[in-house]
Amino acid sequence: MIKDIERVLLSQEEIQAKVAEIGKQITRDFEDQDPIFIGVLKGCFIFMADLMRNVDISCSMDFMAVSSYSGTSSTGAVKINKDLNQDIADRHLILVEDILDSGVTLNYLKNYLQVRRPASVHVATLLDKPARRKADIYADYSCFEVPDAFVVGYGLDYNERYRNLPYIGILKPEVYS
Ligand code: IMP
Ligand code: MG
Repeated sequence: MIKDIERVLLSQEEIQAKVAEIGKQITRDFEDQDPIFIGVLKGCFIFMADLMRNVDISCSMDFMAVSSYSGTSSTGAVKINKDLNQDIADRHLILVEDILDSGVTLNYLKNYLQVRRPASVHVATLLDKPARRKADIYADYSCFEVPDAFVVGYGLDYNERYRNLPYIGILKPEVYS
């Protein structure tokens, strides 16, 4: 697997330290607000699991599944494959994403959920690629800014592979060319 990785961008240790810090920040900001963390599957699964163990407040969790991507370029279309199982009216929501790239997915999701009148909607992302932003959206909590390269690992995939890597790496261009 490592043979497909050009270089490690973020080590396991770096990620763990930063995720713990963001978890503590969310703990301070949402004390007594009983937020619902909404993971955007599948990319969020490792980040969310680590983040939640660093959030020390009363909260609940739910998941949505969306698809907007095929290979390395966005199709621009967002499809809801799995919706929430609970009422979110008057609740504080924290959307948990693996990466904020063009922002099209998260922008769509945020608007989609606002219709149900939650008390607030915040965004926590592991990675932010601001150079590629198309939609007018930003992350309230972001662990790392990354350059405009296709990255995999720690939940992020290329055609469903590499999600299990414990670090974030840049894929060799020949892998997807
Ligand atoms: P956006 O709608 O362009 O912001 O991107 C939505 C989704 O594209 C993310 O949640 C990821 O699943 C995927 N994505 C974007 N950039 C990358 C990348 O560099 N590596 C892996 N997946 C990516
Ligand atoms: Mg993906």
